[in-house]
Amino acid sequence: MKNIVIMISGRGSNMEAIVQRCAAEGWPARVAAVIANRADAAGLRFAAAHGIATQVVEHRAFATREAFDDALAMAIDAHAADLVVLAGFMRILGAAFVRRYEGRLLNIHPSLLPMFPGLHTHQRAIDAGIKLAGATVHFVTPELDHGPIVIQSAVPLLAGDDAQSLSARVLATEHQIYPLAVRWCVEGALRIEGGVVRQMQGAPQLWLAS
Ligand code: GAR
Repeated sequence: MKNIVIMISGRGSNMEAIVQRCAAEGWPARVAAVIANRADAAGLRFAAAHGIATQVVEHRAFATREAFDDALAMAIDAHAADLVVLAGFMRILGAAFVRRYEGRLLNIHPSLLPMFPGLHTHQRAIDAGIKLAGATVHFVTPELDHGPIVIQSAVPLLAGDDAQSLSARVLATEHQIYPLAVRWCVEGALRIEGGVVRQMQGAPQLWLAS
């Protein structure tokens, strides 16, 4: 059994999707802990209600990013994490932290990376007039919202879309692609070759919204 540790900052709907699919599909893994950087992260309640260990590592309690990152690493390592999953975790992590978990640290970002890294992705996508939006699951590297791409979902922009309607449609696809990516990781189905992620069973690494 592999240990998955999920880090959240808020709602935690991606975390929920992963917890549910892990249980329903009998992955060779368990969600060992959910760690939040805010005590009011709503997702903590879901995790606790499902018998998952929860912990808050308040970023505001630390004077430096390094001290925060060290405390996070201690919390993660206490659960012997094989895989660390950032699911709406809204703090930037330092290079030393990222290197410590290299190859076993995943993130989801609500855009078709490398387009629109950073914040306000949906509004920026609408303002740019692009016709295809989506989400990306990627291995984390020190550069923000970069790193080898595991899977992407593609969602058309519809006439009249605003950031809220677009983000809701993208989020529905996040709940499909993130559990898939985590499952592939715990099953050892991924290889990174020259910065490109290959799914060894040949499963499509693209999810098209219907
Ligand atoms: C998701 O849309 C996720 O892609 C995004 O935050 C939301 C979290 O929702 N993450 C980022 O913007 C990270 N750069 P959730 O808490 O319901 O999973």
